[in-house]
Amino acid sequence: MPDNGPDNGFLDISRRGMLAGSVGSAALAQASILRAQQSAPGSASSNKGPATMRVSMTVNGKAQEVDLDTRTTLLDTLREHLKLTGTKKGCDHGQCGACTVMVNGERINSCLSLAVQHDGDEVTTIEGLGTPDDLHPMQDAFVEHDGYQCGYCTPGQICSAVAVLEEIRNGIPSHVTDDLTGPMRFTEIEMRERMSGNICRCGAYSNIAGAMAQVAEA
Ligand code: FES
Ligand code: FES
Repeated sequence: MPDNGPDNGFLDISRRGMLAGSVGSAALAQASILRAQQSAPGSASSNKGPATMRVSMTVNGKAQEVDLDTRTTLLDTLREHLKLTGTKKGCDHGQCGACTVMVNGERINSCLSLAVQHDGDEVTTIEGLGTPDDLHPMQDAFVEHDGYQCGYCTPGQICSAVAVLEEIRNGIPSHVTDDLTGPMRFTEIEMRERMSGNICRCGAYSNIAGAMAQVAEA
């Protein structure tokens, strides 16, 4: 006869209880996963699409209205929705300045800004500064000074340069401004410091500084 003492009976019950508990937990976990999948954006059973919003902006003097996924950056709105591909995507992380545009006269990295933040704003891209037949003075100066090689960073450099001169004219100090009381000067160090967020892997920095100095002195 097998020994059915109290110890063995206790172990049998514990094993059955443990198995029942495991099955219950697995069923609960599966139900949670199913619920999460059903409510995930884009799932077949989800009836909620991504949030969208109509955004109105004036871009290069022209009124524009676009229906956008609210997660769309200003950069992607310009390039993908409005087909203004002059503005470039370099890093898409706010580190290179290739995507610089002006919003209400101030430069920003358009890759770091959601389009919905700019409802009602005025945006100027490289296409809005000048035309091939009628260049903006800064575009003219870049050509004259060879302020580029491959040209990929150039739209951002030019938008930034135009805004930098305006910042100095308006007396906005930078990290290297030594006199905060007098009129601000267009020194090379002042301009280079303010342009430090615009990276040029071709290394056209001296020529860019030359172009900016020419426009500043005009
Ligand atoms: S693409 Fe925006 S900073 Fe590089
Ligand atoms: S001109 Fe090539 S990255 Fe600036």
